[in-house]
Amino acid sequence: MEITPSILTADFCRLGETIDEAIEAGIGWLHMDVMDGNWVVNRTITFGPALIKSVRERVGPAVFIDCHLMITNAEEAWEQYANAGANMVIAHIEAVEDFPKLISDLHGSGVQSGCVINPDTPIDGLLPFLTELDLVLVMSVVPGKGGQSFIPQVEGKVRSLREAIDSQIENGGRETKLMIDGGIKDHNAALVSEWGIDIAVVGSGLINNQGSIRENLESITKSLEM
Ligand code: DX5
Ligand code: ZN
Repeated sequence: MEITPSILTADFCRLGETIDEAIEAGIGWLHMDVMDGNWVVNRTITFGPALIKSVRERVGPAVFIDCHLMITNAEEAWEQYANAGANMVIAHIEAVEDFPKLISDLHGSGVQSGCVINPDTPIDGLLPFLTELDLVLVMSVVPGKGGQSFIPQVEGKVRSLREAIDSQIENGGRETKLMIDGGIKDHNAALVSEWGIDIAVVGSGLINNQGSIRENLESITKSLEM
């Protein structure tokens, strides 16, 4: 299971160094949490395409960048993130009117497509276009900030999506990736890996003042090997 950092708990005045530290620790994928101050319940604002552009310029072309759009107008705004250097745009099914259109717009621009569902959103809505998705993200916290507690009740949805994706692949379909986001630490990373998660977003479990990113990543990686 791959680990990708969310930078929400970083010191935004030291973001460049924090990203450098993550890449030196072996991270190859950055999860950028975009919030517009409207869509998430606690009205948080994080950052926009300008930051994505700076991060892309700093890390170069090899690092994979996804933008998790927690915004009201993902169907229009996605292009700014694509132009800023995102490899993937992950939009909320709860916030998008016509998801298949968004997917084809993204693919038409050479950008990978992700669909994210909140902890209490059922998977049924995305099954009709699962085969078109490069990634499905299951939120294990309510979107809005880092450092929240993990919601284990999403297990059933993760396992059902794992089954659906595996049968899709067996029938020659797209190798859609399965991601989880929120409250993942070294004590529950192995659990979600067993559920069938391919990539786990880790924010405060990686970027905190308990240890360096390398040390925190090592303790998560060790927990996966047990
Ligand atoms: C929450 C974000 C998550 C969050 C993860 O709205 O989408 O990516 O930053 O942070 P932790 O791992 O601290 O829950
Ligand atoms: Zn996120």
